[in-house]
Amino acid sequence: MTATHDAVTAAERCTPEFRRDPHAVYAQLRETAPVCPMRPPHGNETYLITRYEHARAALSDPRLSKDMYGAMDAYRRIFGDSSVALDDNMLNSDAPKHTRLRRLVNSAFTPRRVQALGPRIEDIAGTLLDACPAREPFDLLPAFAFPLPIIVLCDLLGVPPQDRSHMQQLSTTVAQTGFSEETKRAQQKAEEDLHAYFTDLIAAKRDRPADDLLSALTAVRDNDGGLSENELVSTAFLLMFAGHKTTAYLIGNAVHHLLSHPAQLRAVRENPELIRPAVEELVRYDGSVESATFRYATEDVEYGGTRIPKGALVQIALSSANRDPLKFDAPDELDVMRPGNAQDAHLGFGHGSHYCLGAPLARLEAQLALTGLFDRFPRMTLADPAGEPRWLQVPFPAFRGLAELPVVLDP
Ligand code: HEM
Repeated sequence: MTATHDAVTAAERCTPEFRRDPHAVYAQLRETAPVCPMRPPHGNETYLITRYEHARAALSDPRLSKDMYGAMDAYRRIFGDSSVALDDNMLNSDAPKHTRLRRLVNSAFTPRRVQALGPRIEDIAGTLLDACPAREPFDLLPAFAFPLPIIVLCDLLGVPPQDRSHMQQLSTTVAQTGFSEETKRAQQKAEEDLHAYFTDLIAAKRDRPADDLLSALTAVRDNDGGLSENELVSTAFLLMFAGHKTTAYLIGNAVHHLLSHPAQLRAVRENPELIRPAVEELVRYDGSVESATFRYATEDVEYGGTRIPKGALVQIALSSANRDPLKFDAPDELDVMRPGNAQDAHLGFGHGSHYCLGAPLARLEAQLALTGLFDRFPRMTLADPAGEPRWLQVPFPAFRGLAELPVVLDP
């Protein structure tokens, strides 16, 4: 595929060829059209940013707004009206609303609360692995990578165990990426169900508070008054939604790449301390969030000599920025000992005021999931080591993940 402007319609970025190796197309774009006008299927004028330097600047550029209420027309054309009530949260707002919401959530979603989840994450990983076949090929995604974060999120928020599969199903439906009327209708119904579910759950937490994040957030709302009821519901939804597929696909991508790079895996197994930098490198190398959420230009802006007109949408390709050779040496190599790959070097968790609020939890989950898996099954292999991985086919490149991950734990 040639990376001309026309080649980069959102539809073309979703062909099987592109999904198999998006990095090759991004490499051409960084060279030939680093700020590239696209013709996406939803019809809004959109620019794709692919270089690290521009991506990092754009992620914290106050002229690029995240306030979906301000950009209502553009968002409505893409996503319809349905998500408005659930989008009343920090991810879709600018300062000062964003600052207020993020501060309030931070006061309840503390480092202590995240660290306390460690032993529980190890338990959940162990229980899920107990149920996997040891010697037969099976798909690790539905058996391990997907249930692990949803169980953790339910525990964190205080969603009762009997509601977990309902949550998983609703969260999966909402996260579908498609523009067909059928997909939009299914998403709308799932969003209404989630709104109703969290409204009821918050009422229950008010009656019987427990040691969970939703009770803590409800107390913040009731005591401080700085959070509206809809913002509270919408924040619960955001935490569930933002923390599920992102973490599941990262675990899947990481397992796939470590099994495909035996020397890297051996280095991590021989030196357990390496698991932290290894997870950073895996997020950089093939993280699960391919593009940041849309921004829109509140005035004309210029990046790399290209004018982005007021009102245009901007998509920032994090996967591309993380492979930019102007920033990273040998960016297409996976190197768990990469010098200087500190947590804030790559953009896999975003940058600036919207930097991923759940990054400490996502890191902990990925580190413990990988350690639990490879410590217990040191001989684990891909079921078909010579086969082509099957990447997710999405009509819109928000997530980067595998469609399946067949493995044998103990061949
Ligand atoms: C924001 C990535 C897991 C909660 C973001 C952003 C990225 C990201 C790139 C910024 C989006 C933008 O600027 O448009 C990831 C990845 C994850 C992950 C790769 C897993 C591997 C989680 C988890 C949670 C979470 C586990 C919470 C339980 C959030 C929230 C925001 C956010 C609340 C919005 C922050 C704001 O707007 O201020 N995430 N995320 N994420 N993430 Fe994550």
